[in-house]
Amino acid sequence: MRMTVIGTGYLGATHAACMAELGHEVLGIDVDEHKIAQLAKGEVPFYEPGLPEVLSRGREAGRLAFSTDFAQAAQFANVHFLGVGTPQQKGSYAADLRYVRSAVEQLVPHLEGHHVILGKSTVPVGTAAELQELADSLARPGASVEIAWNPEFLREGYAVKDTITPDRIMLGVRPGGIAEQVAREVYATPLEQGIPFLVSNLATAELVKVSANAFLATKISFINAVSEVCEAAGADVTQVARAIGYDDRIGHKFLGAGLGFGGGCLPKDIRAYIARAGELGATEALTFLREVDAINMRRREHMVNLAKRAVGGHLIGASITVLGCAFKPNSDDVRDSPALNVAGQLSLKGAQVTVFDPQAMDNARKIFPTLHYAESAEAALQGADLVILATEWDEFVQLDPTQVRGWVRTPVLIDGRNALDSSRWAEAGWDYKALGRTF
Ligand code: UDX
Repeated sequence: MRMTVIGTGYLGATHAACMAELGHEVLGIDVDEHKIAQLAKGEVPFYEPGLPEVLSRGREAGRLAFSTDFAQAAQFANVHFLGVGTPQQKGSYAADLRYVRSAVEQLVPHLEGHHVILGKSTVPVGTAAELQELADSLARPGASVEIAWNPEFLREGYAVKDTITPDRIMLGVRPGGIAEQVAREVYATPLEQGIPFLVSNLATAELVKVSANAFLATKISFINAVSEVCEAAGADVTQVARAIGYDDRIGHKFLGAGLGFGGGCLPKDIRAYIARAGELGATEALTFLREVDAINMRRREHMVNLAKRAVGGHLIGASITVLGCAFKPNSDDVRDSPALNVAGQLSLKGAQVTVFDPQAMDNARKIFPTLHYAESAEAALQGADLVILATEWDEFVQLDPTQVRGWVRTPVLIDGRNALDSSRWAEAGWDYKALGRTF
């Protein structure tokens, strides 16, 4: 099948490459000329394991190309995926829909015949219906557009796997259209493998995505709230999580207590969900998500306070090493990163902060140029008065505590992700502290 993917960020670039991997002919479209030039050369503008290989295979097979030209997109295919960003609006909780609207505005006037637009971006419920009206108003005589919603659930770091073999495929459609038939063809390979395919109306599909993210965020904040009580009561949150997770109804996943969630999705998606519920007159329904957000943001503040205590009450001049600045391991994304937030706060309060991250330092430098960025974990750890594990990269989890002890000035560590083997670090002479456990 031929198709375009409009928007070539994390979501769109991955989707375009993976659709080519499934055998389709794909044209990726973006307004960012630099990004398109990079992708056209086979370079992925961000870190995503496995994606460069998939991108190269698609290009070499002649099934994957990139362009900034919407007229070319209109000519190329009758099926268009929409994967542009929906960031948080400045000064509001709501999502900024200017990029999705703009994509429709730029594409639709070029279309001839019948086209299907499959939205993948995370949008407030009601957006697809609004875009359908916009598209209808822009379509030339003789052209028609059908908007359907096909939300994306991919996790950064596992984006290729999550796109090619998703847990489920969700599709919101209007009655009487051909979008379902189109989606069945697009996803023929995963559907043959028995991956669940759910078809609903537009509003339901939009809500599935934000509800999934809100649930995940709630699960993380739940255990982080328990973590606060554990610290007050002298209990161990990792043991609580382990024990409750054996109940199938609860499960162990997303019960990792620590610095909390960040990234380009969960924080802004729960806020947009709160804002949209309010617009719909269902404000009370999602009031608890404000608490989920507050618990999450409190983690960062708490870590800064613990760090201050750990260096004897004075941050000014203290030499602190923060391991990790990506919002999670296997990613170079620092958007709303708890790790970078903590490093930045400590620095602003007068500490000498040194950061190392295997992939995210270039992105971090753009946001916090004043932090000291080291070349390696070893270089970052030299002379530290306090070490904070902020992103649980495997490289950090594998560090040898005895060796690291020889690098630092004072062997004090706060495990912000409950990721290290506490007894190993304690046995090697470290004052090991962890969120929700030993304060
Ligand atoms: C998320 C959703 O998982 C994905 O389905 C959706 O499409 C986009 O948003 P992503 O942002 O890539 O994906 O990250 P995810 O793996 O969900 O982690 C989110 C954050 O939660 C990270 O900051 C992570 O460190 C944190 N987290 C995760 C915890 O603090 N504890 C956990 O137990 C799990």
